[in-house]
Amino acid sequence: MSTLVSTPWQALLDHCATLKGVHLRDLFAGDPDRFARFSVRVGDVLVDCSKQRVDGKALRLLIALAEHADLRGWRARLFAGEKINASEGRAVLHPALRYLKLDAFPSPQLDVMPEVRAVRAHMREFSEKVRAGLWRGFSGEAIRDVVNIGIGGSDLGPKMVVRALAAFQRPGLRMHFVSNLDSAHLAPLLDSLDPRSTLFIVASKTFSTQETMLNAETAREWLCAAAGKDAERALERHFVAVTADEQRAAAFGIPARNVFRMWDWVGGRYSLWSAVGLPIALSIGMNGFERLLAGAAAMDSHFRDAPLERNLPVLMALIGIWNTNFLGASTSAVLPYHEALRFLPSFLQQLEMESNGKTVGRDGKPLAHPANPIVWGEIGSNGQHAFFQLLHQGGWLVPSDFIASAQSDFPLPGHQAPLMANFLAQSAALAFGKTEAEARAELTAAGVPEAQVATLLPHKVFAGNQPSTTIILPRLDAFHLGMLLALYEHKVFVQGVVWGINSFDQWGVELGKQLAGRLLPALTGETDLAGLDQSTGSLIAWCREHSDF
Ligand code: F6P
Repeated sequence: MSTLVSTPWQALLDHCATLKGVHLRDLFAGDPDRFARFSVRVGDVLVDCSKQRVDGKALRLLIALAEHADLRGWRARLFAGEKINASEGRAVLHPALRYLKLDAFPSPQLDVMPEVRAVRAHMREFSEKVRAGLWRGFSGEAIRDVVNIGIGGSDLGPKMVVRALAAFQRPGLRMHFVSNLDSAHLAPLLDSLDPRSTLFIVASKTFSTQETMLNAETAREWLCAAAGKDAERALERHFVAVTADEQRAAAFGIPARNVFRMWDWVGGRYSLWSAVGLPIALSIGMNGFERLLAGAAAMDSHFRDAPLERNLPVLMALIGIWNTNFLGASTSAVLPYHEALRFLPSFLQQLEMESNGKTVGRDGKPLAHPANPIVWGEIGSNGQHAFFQLLHQGGWLVPSDFIASAQSDFPLPGHQAPLMANFLAQSAALAFGKTEAEARAELTAAGVPEAQVATLLPHKVFAGNQPSTTIILPRLDAFHLGMLLALYEHKVFVQGVVWGINSFDQWGVELGKQLAGRLLPALTGETDLAGLDQSTGSLIAWCREHSDF
């Protein structure tokens, strides 16, 4: 790894040497305006970064680092549709998918909007028919179950959004998501479905991903067996595809009018805004889907136009870099206090780690610094009763994002206020902890005898100084969810720019795919074990003996 360090980077290292030892308690004590200075509002979304271990100077230096990395230039190249995904020779145009104005985008010369609008119209026509019960299956029944077959970006985004917006879902249309190769995913679902009223969406940009194709083939067999002599009509009424490869979809048996197009300039993990979002349109309606797009478009405008110092994706990205590269955190937790956001952590894992989980820069050279931390998370308040112990007293630096909505769309009386109390209590406890003096005073006030106080005291102290960002949406509706997701997308982009990474390729997933292709015939006994490493060869021999492939 190169040891070359830029001037702004060195300035940050120097500043960090001083700031690292300062406790959040002292940062707050020294600045009565800290909340106002370190929180940002975009529309009615509030993001509080005051519990991050930065001060004004750190932020100024971080902005200088972004300027040094030519963030403004890269941002302009992104929005101009330049081929910034150089290793794949592609533009990165997911902002076009949520562009709702009527003019050209990204420019009159490169305008992709006519195609984007045509696919949106197709989505509207189809989703309205299905939702109105006018799209009929092979035996004349309306659709009651929709199964999205896809994986990675063709699964995580639409699944997360459909579940997040469950409060706005059309009753009577059940949405299912199948991704895993393991038949334990598809088999029980098929057992519960009626082929006459089930619609399958095969979502795959490449239409060649092993998991998706195998599940789609199994679903096709299941449907055709049920349809008997109507099999051809059944395929036409029960299978649609979302793909950039119309030929493969046709070869699979899906007619062209059932194919929703996507383009090579949409990365899988940035694709929920495209027809990959068809399950969302089916679930909440096309108007709802367009509200999601509008929320993301509002964040695009903010990212494009707001000054860097008040630019939310920029601030979140730079604070993440501060935590990783200067304070030394190697993980980052996402903690939504909203049951409906239970798939957000896995969505963000793909978004962040598939984009920036790299050690080689755009220029093909090793990065000078480590890049993306390990992203993980769980919904609150459940996590509090599982792993929060380690966050509070485990001694590891774990920066977190706490996310909640002020209002609930699932209004059982008496739940929201205690949820929010826990949400706010955890980030405060992590930041400020409990000193020995505070713990001692508490024990003494509770009447604990002095001898016991001494024994208990070490267990009752909380070091605090654990940094977090708090994000509060007014409600978890389509518009604000769109804003939230676009916020994270642009955060990832900014981090990629500063780290010098192409955030839009994912070569690291290829080796395992290649090897699986080589191991399959060895597992089924078509080839021998020669040439395999000792461990894998022995494991295959054991599997052959104990499995029934
Ligand atoms: O293997 C990784 C990956 O290529 C992801 O980037 C992508 O989201 C996923 O597989 C699914 O790809 P596809 O939509 O082509 O099936």
